[in-house]
Amino acid sequence: MKLLQDRVGSITGASRGIGRATALEAARQGARLILIARSREGLEETAHQVENEGGVRPQIIVCDVADESSLKTAFREMHGYTKQLDFLVNNAGILRDAVIGMISTKQILEVLHTNLISLIQIMQFAARIMMGAKSGSIVNIASIIGRSGNEGQVVYGASKAGVIGATKSAARELAPHGIRVNAVAPGVIATSMIANIPESKKEELLGSIKMNRLGQPEEVAKIICVLASDYSSYVTGQILGVDGGMWL
Ligand SMILES: NC(=O)c1ccc[n+]([C@@H]2O[C@H](COP(=O)([O-])OP(=O)(O)OC[C@H]3O[C@@H](n4cnc5c(N)ncnc54)[C@H](OP(=O)(O)O)[C@@H]3O)[C@@H](O)[C@H]2O)c1
Repeated sequence: MKLLQDRVGSITGASRGIGRATALEAARQGARLILIARSREGLEETAHQVENEGGVRPQIIVCDVADESSLKTAFREMHGYTKQLDFLVNNAGILRDAVIGMISTKQILEVLHTNLISLIQIMQFAARIMMGAKSGSIVNIASIIGRSGNEGQVVYGASKAGVIGATKSAARELAPHGIRVNAVAPGVIATSMIANIPESKKEELLGSIKMNRLGQPEEVAKIICVLASDYSSYVTGQILGVDGGMWL
């Protein structure tokens, strides 16, 4: 029996990186998927890869999660596809590094809307469906930066610390309804998000990772799938570091 056999799940930010790796792993584990991101091309490519591996072709929804009306349309579309939602992976996120004196209000709002506000709104939507079934699992993607902070990442750090707070509060609130809420806090993962980090900074980061290598999106995806599945049936409100020992 596969980990997510016949489960229906939605993954945001599934057009590349950790979200795409999660879609592929969840499909391998038997899930049927609804994938969300802004890039139709990226989503089509993820869906194509799932199908190529023998998975059920995912539904795709093009949506800017930072835009409330786009998000509402996406919820309606999702309702049209399914009344069942066994798991949600809240993964869409952006990084906009800037030292504190240089952050514009526009940047602050962009990061908070994408990384935190939408995540809460999507949890609300999912929780309503999951409450009806009295079961479900929500996995939010936080970051090691939400715990440790980092220079140049005041807003990103605030958004990810917010994800951790939202995860713990939602876990308390939704446990009586049979819904588990956990978060994964990746360290430094080799995706396009970190592509622009200068080599010298990457060397410095490697020095702080006890396993002395970057993580791969697939290594985060596997943990997300365990948290989405019944293999973690007695786990809620947890923030699980996937960071090669960076947070030790
Ligand atoms: N890579 C790391 O080292 C690392 C470390 C800690 C935490 N994380 C977190 O892991 C998550 C995934 O990151 P990643 O490394 O896979 O980054 P990535 O390769 O840049 O992927 C980000 C994903 O989020 C989607 N997204 C961004 N803004 C969106 C919006 N407004 N509406 C809908 N979708 C949006 C992107 O799709 P579109 O552009 O197509 O919309 C893309 O699919 C993020 O939450 C990130 O903060 C990453």
